[in-house]
Amino acid sequence: MSHLLPLSRVAKLVGLPRHALQEMIRGGTLATFDGMVEFDELRRAFPEVKWDDDAEFRRVQEIKEKAFAKRVLERALPDKEVLVARLNELGDDYAAAKALLLHYGNVMTWVDEKIDEIEEDKSVETRHALHSVRAFLLRHLAEIPPDAVLAQAAIARERIFRIMSAHVTILPSGHEFDVDGNDTLLEAALRNGVSLNYGCSNGNCGECKARVVSGDVKKVHAHDYALKETEKDAGVILMCAYAPVNDVVIEANVAGAHDIPVQQLVAKVKSVEVFNPHMAALHILAPRSQRLRYLGGQNIDVASGGVRGRYAIASCPCEDRHIEVHVPRRAGDDFAELVFNRLKANDALEVEGPFGEFVLDEESPRPVIFLAFGAGFAPIKSLIQHAMSLELAESIDLHWVADEAGHYQDNLCRTWADALDNFNYLPHAPTDDLEALLKSIVMDYPDLHRFDIYAAGSAAQLERARPLFVSGELPGARWFENALDA
Ligand code: FES
Repeated sequence: MSHLLPLSRVAKLVGLPRHALQEMIRGGTLATFDGMVEFDELRRAFPEVKWDDDAEFRRVQEIKEKAFAKRVLERALPDKEVLVARLNELGDDYAAAKALLLHYGNVMTWVDEKIDEIEEDKSVETRHALHSVRAFLLRHLAEIPPDAVLAQAAIARERIFRIMSAHVTILPSGHEFDVDGNDTLLEAALRNGVSLNYGCSNGNCGECKARVVSGDVKKVHAHDYALKETEKDAGVILMCAYAPVNDVVIEANVAGAHDIPVQQLVAKVKSVEVFNPHMAALHILAPRSQRLRYLGGQNIDVASGGVRGRYAIASCPCEDRHIEVHVPRRAGDDFAELVFNRLKANDALEVEGPFGEFVLDEESPRPVIFLAFGAGFAPIKSLIQHAMSLELAESIDLHWVADEAGHYQDNLCRTWADALDNFNYLPHAPTDDLEALLKSIVMDYPDLHRFDIYAAGSAAQLERARPLFVSGELPGARWFENALDA
């Protein structure tokens, strides 16, 4: 009986990112069937994986959790109802497998009886041949090959994943992600960097309607928005109120920067994190009833007591209610003074946004260079976390050119580099000769035309960088920019 696994589950089983598996598929070293991997193929392609020892797997998971921040990968058991439904399904699988085994056992008894029957009145040679067949069958039934023990361990691990999570495919975009713990479809999509259409996130507006194409879902939160009977009959659900029971395919719209309306909300200061005298992070908590919809790399306005500032968002949309902005301290900047001297936890903040179109091109399979100048690290951080959660880019190089605030989140960048094989962190000290530094970076990429470049900094810095990257002597790259002072 063939057993097919979606790519994201294979990635979990073997402890590799999805893009590494896609690379293997393109290179012909991993065969797929309709985008899925057959279990035997999995064991053939990864003979070195110790299926019965998950120490290495847990080590990789721990590094990833550290890199993504705990709040992103918080582990929880699935909702009770969902858990019961998944266990029931597993019970059905087990019962079917047991029934099949009983059947095979019966067939073996019949074969034995049949051999007895045929043996009568047959020549010595025929009886000898039949005896050999019987001995062959009994010997193979009695000994369990070592390979079967490994297969058993791999299947056991995969079953645990199927209890703890379900795989989701979104149509027509083709996005795929797993729903872990007690997340709804919407929460899991956002955690995985998939920006589905939604509004209130608590069952009131109907904006998160989607249609279940295949698989089973269960309502895990009550909702006030009433679906019409015709919608229910067509399999329409609210993604903020439903969780998948098993692997599902859902028809839903993915939002681009143009689709997300400007929102206004009153949020709270969660904390102020002063990195050094030149730079602080303002951590904002959106109300439970009104989260901010945005895409990684966009900007927001933040105001308190009539003092206002526009900042690039440094957090990832996958971080639920948490919004982070980085605030450089500059002479005459009233909002920065407020952040460094007066704002404290629970103070009210007006938030408006998102603005701008500096967002990740999810369709692009190209390698990516992120180029951050000073506080331009903020939107770049947001994009990197988005790119990581989607596991799309073939490789990611982060060049961070520091200003007087230094590489104020150097440890975070180093943790990313530790956690991800395809991530390179290249910090650059402040320099008076930016032109020379940029030229030396460009020289390191003879195949620059293959890259997408996302750059953020002051308008003047971007003016200097752009021509070198997109119209130098070599063919240019694709260029996206966010001028923080524009
Ligand atoms: S987001 Fe409003 S009902 Fe789901």
